[in-house]
Order: sequence, then structure tokens, then C-alpha cells
Amino acid sequence: MVLLVLGLIFVGDCNGDELKKHFYERSCPLAEEIVQNITWKHVATNSALPAKLLRMHFHDCFVRGCDGSVLVDSTANNTAEKAAIPNLSLAGFDVIDEIKTQLETTCPGKVSCADIVALAARDSVSFQFNKSMWEVLTGRRDGNISRASEALANIPSPSSNFTTLQQNFANKNLSIHDLVVLSGAHTIGVGHCNLFSNRLYNFTGKGDSDPSLNSTYAAFLKTKCKSLSDTTTTVPMDPGSGLTFDSHYYISLKQKEGLFQSDAALLTNHDASDYVDKLLANEEFFTKFGESIKRMGAIEVLTGNSGNIRTKCSVVN
Ligand code: HEM
Ligand SMILES: *[C@@H]1O[C@H](CO)[C@@H](O)[C@H](O)[C@H]1NC(C)=O
Ligand SMILES: *[C@@H]1O[C@H](CO)[C@@H](O)[C@H](O)[C@H]1NC(C)=O
Ligand SMILES: *[C@@H]1O[C@H](CO)[C@@H](O)[C@H](O)[C@H]1NC(C)=O
Ligand SMILES: *[C@@H]1O[C@H](CO)[C@@H](O)[C@H](O)[C@H]1NC(C)=O
Ligand SMILES: *[C@@H]1O[C@H](CO)[C@@H](O)[C@H](O)[C@H]1NC(C)=O
Ligand SMILES: *[C@@H]1O[C@H](CO)[C@@H](O)[C@H](O)[C@H]1NC(C)=O
Ligand SMILES: *[C@@H]1O[C@H](CO)[C@@H](O)[C@H](O)[C@H]1NC(C)=O
Ligand SMILES: *[C@@H]1O[C@H](CO)[C@@H](O)[C@H](O)[C@H]1NC(C)=O
Ligand SMILES: *[C@@H]1O[C@H](CO)[C@@H](O)[C@H](O)[C@H]1NC(C)=O
Repeated sequence: MVLLVLGLIFVGDCNGDELKKHFYERSCPLAEEIVQNITWKHVATNSALPAKLLRMHFHDCFVRGCDGSVLVDSTANNTAEKAAIPNLSLAGFDVIDEIKTQLETTCPGKVSCADIVALAARDSVSFQFNKSMWEVLTGRRDGNISRASEALANIPSPSSNFTTLQQNFANKNLSIHDLVVLSGAHTIGVGHCNLFSNRLYNFTGKGDSDPSLNSTYAAFLKTKCKSLSDTTTTVPMDPGSGLTFDSHYYISLKQKEGLFQSDAALLTNHDASDYVDKLLANEEFFTKFGESIKRMGAIEVLTGNSGNIRTKCSVVN
């Protein structure tokens, strides 16, 4: 029995090749500094960028693990993840490409696109709020498959109910607590009107609004989103606090001001709703967010000799 347990621990260890701190310390000592410098340069002139890069990291990790597959362009043969989601409005690819170009000059073939995404997400948020936000482990390698259909199947929809959200996260071995904490990323950034305006204008097909949405807030949103078919207007997801990375998202949520049904859904489950109360304090939110995004950043990662290091992030080798 003891031998069996020791054996399992041993195998577990040898399975190794896990993510670690400063993976590039020897192979490319300036890697993290290069990512940070270029990210910071862009965020300094584009305050919308941290939300874009944070969301890009989420989408990368939820489809085939954090393997840079979100960055790949479609080809004649393949409709890539990017193409599945014009309505999901990802952005910031140019920043990733600039970082990759610099890294290929400084230390060719060493730093994965998947790690660049994970680091840039953290660095962009940290720069904007002048606070070292969370630790990012490195050592991810890039995949060479990116399929639109997998993005649609794995990325939760803004109209998801709690059961579906919980299942989407459980599929990635993430818990209800991870779901609640990571949804707190909606403390920054914007959402497009068409993704929630059914909640304002036609919730059950009777020209009604969603009773779980604060009616004062719904009236305000109607002044921004004038119709069901408005696909261009955006509104901040955390009203009054859309440019600060803080726990205010949960305060908004409790005032029934979560923008999407998927946000409001967090209040429909006991465990999740209790957890919302625990995250109302900034420090608790920061600590827990750091822990959960570390788990998210480790989903199905390719390490060691698996996968490869892409030369150009938008094209598989
Ligand atoms: C729980 C399930 C989730 C759903 C259903 C969801 C859905 C969405 C939707 C529909 C948008 C608006 C996109 C647009 O209109 O352009 C959005 C924005 C965003 N999401 Fe999520 N999301 C979820 C979880 C997450 C997670 C886990 C993260 C990161 C850790 C994240 C980070 C963001 C950010 C930062 C934005 C703002 C993007 C911007 O300003 O362009 N979301 N999300
Ligand atoms: C990063 O930026 C800092 C401050 O501007 C600079 O001192 C440093 O040399 C830069 N590092 C790299 C690798 O470009
Ligand atoms: C597209 O698919 C064909 C046949 O499967 C293959 O011969 C060709 O190399 C592929 N092209 C690319 C760009 O992958
Ligand atoms: C950022 O934080 C550092 C250390 O906490 C502080 O010295 C600096 O003044 C801050 N900068 C701004 C612009 O708030
Ligand atoms: C994006 O578009 C597809 C196809 O039109 C649709 O199935 C999906 O629900 C949309 N996603 C969002 C977030 O609106
Ligand atoms: C949640 O949504 C799924 C998929 O749309 C549906 O099958 C399920 O019945 C819904 N669950 C509840 C409790 O509404
Ligand atoms: C979840 O955990 C199980 C058991 O450890 C593992 O087999 C599976 O690959 C994991 N899935 C993900 C997406 O990490
Ligand atoms: C509201 O939904 C119902 C049922 O889907 C539909 O018949 C009606 O045209 C919709 N109203 C508007 C304004 O789109
Ligand atoms: C609706 O929002 C207002 C602030 O905008 C708040 O005072 C009120 O308590 C909220 N209503 C509910 C039911 O949460
Ligand atoms: C994908 O990567 C694997 C190993 O990581 C490699 O064997 C395979 O040839 C690659 N396929 C393409 C199309 O690049």
C-alpha cells in the first residue's frame, strides 16, 4: 500500500514538465521584460486593451487549453477559432504579434505564443491599475489546431443559465468558486448591446424585460441600446467602475446590475451567491482571482516536448 502510494507520487512527479515561475530565465532571460515593456507601451495609449487581453487569455484557455490556438488565422482549409466569434469581438492580436516579433529577434524559437498571451493579460491589467496583479507561471507550448466549432462549443454564452455555466467550467475542472471569481473579470471592459438587449425589450417574447435586471438600470440601458438589433453600441459591464479592476462587479451584481444573464445567473445558486458576498472586499477578490486565474492558465497546457513554439502567432508551424 505504502509502496503503491509512493509509486503514484513518483509517477506524478516524473510526469513533471509543469508550468513554473520564470521558465525562460535561462533560455530567454529578457522574455518577461520584453512582454511587459511592449504591453505597457500599448496600454499607455489604449485604456481598452487590458480587457481585450484578459478576455483573449480566457478564450485561449477554454478552447483546447492555453495553447495559443485563439491567435491562429483561418486558412483555405480551416476555419479557426477567431472566425467563430466575430460577434465576440476579440482584439489585441496586433500587440501579441509585435511582442512575438521582438522575441523572435532576441531569442528565436524559445517563447511560446500561449505564454505571451498569459503574460500580456496580467501585465496589461497590472499597468493600468499600477499594481502587480497575479503571478503567471510559464512553460506553455503552442498547439497547431484551431477550430471555430470548438470555440462555439466551449466558450460560455452571455445568455447561459447557471447550470450551463457550471458545466462549462466543470468541463475545465474549474469549480463554482472559480466561476464566480473569474466572472469578476467583468469588472473591466464593455459588452455589446445585442448580447443583452433581449433583457431590456423582449425577454420572454412578450415585449417584456428581465425581472432579474434592476429596473432603474434597465431604463438607463435603454437610453444607450435603442433596439434589439443594435450590434455596434457598447456599454461598460461594471457600471460606474468600468475602468477599475476591483470588486465593484460584485456590488453591481447584488444591485441586480449584472449586464448579461450569465452575470445575473451567479445569484441563482446558493453556493455561488454566498461566494459573491465573500468577494465584495477588494483584497479578498484580488487574492482569489490570482488563485483562480492560475488554475485557468493551467488548463490542458502543452509542456515539455508536447506542442511546439510557433514562429508567428497567427500561423501554425
Ligand atoms: C462565465 C462565463 C462568461 C461569459 C458568458 C462571458 C461573456 C462575455 C461577453 C458576451 C462579453 C462581451 C463581449 C462583447 O460584447 O464585445 C464579455 C466581455 C469580457 N469578458 Fe467575459 N464571459 C465570461 C467569463 C469571463 C472570464 C472567465 C474572463 C476572464 C478571466 C472574462 C473576461 C472578459 C472581459 C475582460 C471582457 C471585456 C472585453 C472588452 O472590453 O472588450 N470573461 N464576456
Ligand atoms: C524595458 O523598459 C525599461 C524602462 O523603460 C528599460 O529600462 C528596459 O531596458 C526595457 N527592457 C527591454 C528588454 O526592452
Ligand atoms: C489543405 O488541404 C489539402 C488536402 O487535405 C492539403 O494538401 C494542403 O496542404 C492543405 N493546405 C494547407 C494550407 O494546409
Ligand atoms: C504606482 O505604485 C508605486 C508603488 O506602489 C508608486 O510608487 C507609484 O507612485 C504609483 N504610480 C502611480 C502613477 O500611481
Ligand atoms: C455568435 O453567433 C453565433 C452564430 O450566429 C451564435 O450561435 C452565437 O450564440 C453568438 N454568440 C454570441 C455570444 O452572441
Ligand atoms: C439551462 O439551459 C440549458 C441549455 O439551454 C437548458 O437545457 C436547461 O434546461 C436550463 N436549466 C434551467 C434550470 O433552466
Ligand atoms: C480534469 O481532471 C481529470 C482528472 O484529473 C483529467 O483527466 C482531465 O484531463 C482534466 N481536464 C482538464 C480540462 O483539465
Ligand atoms: C419579441 O419576441 C416575439 C417572440 O419571439 C416576437 O414575435 C416579436 O416580434 C419580438 N418583438 C420584437 C420587437 O422583436
Ligand atoms: C437598483 O439600483 C439602484 C441604484 O442604481 C439601487 O439603489 C437599488 O437598490 C437597486 N435595486 C435592487 C432591487 O437591487
Ligand atoms: C502539429 O504538431 C505536432 C507535434 O506538436 C506535429 O507532429 C504535427 O506535424 C503538427 N501538424 C501540423 C499541421 O503542423
